[in-house]
Amino acid sequence: MSVNISNIRLEFPLLAKEVNGHPLVYLDSAASAQKPQVVLDAESYFYQHEYAAVHRGIHTLSANATTRMEDIRKQVASFLHAASSEEIVFVKGATEAINLVAHSWGESQLQPGDNIIITEMEHHANIVPWQMLIKRINAELRYIPLTCTGTLDVTRLSSLIDSRTRLLALTHVSNVLGTQNPVKAIIAQAKACGIVTLIDGAQAIMHDTIDVQDLDCDFYVFSGHKIYGPSGIGILYGRKAILELMPPWEGGGSMISTVSLSKETTYTTAPWRFEAGSPNIGSIIGLGAALRWVSELGMDSIIQHEKKLMRYALNKLSDVPDIIIYSPPKAIGVVSFNLGRHHAFDVGSFLDQYGIAIRTGHHCAMPLMQYYGVSSMCRASFVLYNTEDEIDRLVSSLIRIQHLLG
Ligand SMILES: Cc1ncc(COP(=O)(O)O)c(C=O)c1O
Repeated sequence: MSVNISNIRLEFPLLAKEVNGHPLVYLDSAASAQKPQVVLDAESYFYQHEYAAVHRGIHTLSANATTRMEDIRKQVASFLHAASSEEIVFVKGATEAINLVAHSWGESQLQPGDNIIITEMEHHANIVPWQMLIKRINAELRYIPLTCTGTLDVTRLSSLIDSRTRLLALTHVSNVLGTQNPVKAIIAQAKACGIVTLIDGAQAIMHDTIDVQDLDCDFYVFSGHKIYGPSGIGILYGRKAILELMPPWEGGGSMISTVSLSKETTYTTAPWRFEAGSPNIGSIIGLGAALRWVSELGMDSIIQHEKKLMRYALNKLSDVPDIIIYSPPKAIGVVSFNLGRHHAFDVGSFLDQYGIAIRTGHHCAMPLMQYYGVSSMCRASFVLYNTEDEIDRLVSSLIRIQHLLG
């Protein structure tokens, strides 16, 4: 079923905005997506009519809010096709999810001399927590390198794996290049060697149907704000058998079973063991609304529209004189480029003057910038609410900037 993009755009109040005297062209959804009215309303309604602390009270409001939160846990499980809602941990975002695994799983399972494999295209969120972990444990970090076409050189994986490899953590879709990695095959290869796998789904969750059982990964992480939901909420999926083995990483209320000043504290079961303190319940409600909105629209329709947009964008952008496109032809959701020798910040600032919002900089992927020998790139990202007209405006503005900058 194809979707009516004009109608969908009307659901996003912010898309009607003017910026610097021009209708906004928002091409920065890979950093954070705009929110449909239903998400804004759900959160606001909750605070106005249903708000109370969860997991604490016997009173009606608290009990109802707790039920809502636990229902959304079930909804997220179903969205990811997880086997059980007990495999779903509410966290702040993808970054916190990876840090949770690095602290809890990493510190309890890794021994000095063990190694972890990541890739050269990771976001810093999937590099730095592992760098910090290996320093604490005296372990080693290895990298799957890139090919010159912006894909992973998976042929190198078998030579990186040895008997001390404990974890393989990689992105499903690159936030810089849009490369979709063959994660299912990579996970199968890792599993065959007894290696635990973590998939960073921060850039895949809004573009594709995710089935964690089919992927057969041990962990999958994403952030709510990338899939039209609120900021400050994200998900760690963890295979039940692994979560059950993991110790808590943060202490406090809601994660304990018994606390005494004279005996050792005992902890509650997963996933609640990993949710110390008062959760971000308003954003959990918003996330539930966002996932419902996406499900009702249907991921197939979203994929269909976005594929068309990406083909159009890659095609049109390649006509811009002196453009260097880094994304591979089958990129998902983003196109990264530079305009001749002009710095990405200059290009981004000019585009902003025309009301066009793109991302510029190192995109939290400095190793990837180093691979390409640049300090920064421009990145335009495309999601469900973007149009071919917006791509035309991007392209004509880039050509104008090229003339102005010379
Ligand atoms: C691939 C990837 N991983 C992780 C993250 C971190 O997400 P967050 O900042 O929401 O925790 C991002 C954010 O851009 C990302 O693109």
